[in-house]
Amino acid sequence: MNVQAISESDFAAISQFFYAESGIRLGMNKRSLVCGRLAPRLKVLQLENFGAYLRFITTQGNHLERQLAVDLLTTNETYFFREQRHFDFLQELLDQGWPGHIPQIWSAACSSGEEPYSIAMLMAEYFGDKLWQVDASDLSNRMLATAAQGLYPLSRAREVPSSLLRKYCLKGLGQFDGYLLVDDCLRQRLSLHAHNLMEPVRRKKKYDLIFLRNVLIYFDAAGKKTIINHLLEVLQPDGFLFVGHSESLNGITDALVSVRPAVYRLAQA
Ligand SMILES: C[S@@+](CC[C@H](N)C(=O)[O-])C[C@H]1O[C@@H](n2cnc3c(N)ncnc32)[C@H](O)[C@@H]1O
Repeated sequence: MNVQAISESDFAAISQFFYAESGIRLGMNKRSLVCGRLAPRLKVLQLENFGAYLRFITTQGNHLERQLAVDLLTTNETYFFREQRHFDFLQELLDQGWPGHIPQIWSAACSSGEEPYSIAMLMAEYFGDKLWQVDASDLSNRMLATAAQGLYPLSRAREVPSSLLRKYCLKGLGQFDGYLLVDDCLRQRLSLHAHNLMEPVRRKKKYDLIFLRNVLIYFDAAGKKTIINHLLEVLQPDGFLFVGHSESLNGITDALVSVRPAVYRLAQA
């Protein structure tokens, strides 16, 4: 099948489906992305065209394929210690003994886990065997499964300081050559769960730090507002919200002010 063969109406319908599931709008410029990512599923399921695929995933009982379609359409790029300045800031806060207790941290679009594991390495350095954990969530169950496994190509770990790499990662051998496995002592500290940022946060917990990095960029202004309003419900009054360095909350909320590049705090804090 020619992967370019998605009709305008099938693309619009798939785009609508994805918007309803994730809150993300796929513009017409994403037509070849949709083709490229979903075409292999059409082949496996021996379906004629994208319209048939959409009917398949919206048929009751086919929720696993529906979830897979959403997974395939999300962009999951990430790596360890991405945007180092945030980790420097976290280290600064921990050095100062902020916030006076073990911080509650949530990586709210954690993708395959490199972000929460980077946080966990720093937390382990400061809090060792004490009672701490890092909450981590994503829309994609496939990404959460990778995070739970903690097995990554070494290329994702270029930014990990060598002392942390030696301490918290095991180098793969034999069939795992070229991979690293995050040590179990960190894997058990991640509390992974599926969460759609467009929905209210069900957990009653309040967070000192929320990492919301490199995900807002995929949403329109209304989507960004919805997400930020949900997160404001669970951010501690003196807590910090991190977004990606290419993202901004200008025009999205007055409740948060920028205190450093890509770091926000409640305006009245
Ligand atoms: C580009 S990754 C960012 C990963 C990490 N935060 C970083 O900065 O490296 C974006 C992640 O957002 C997730 N995502 C997209 N829409 C979402 C939604 N509505 N709710 C929760 N996660 C979502 C995707 O599945 C993807 O794993």
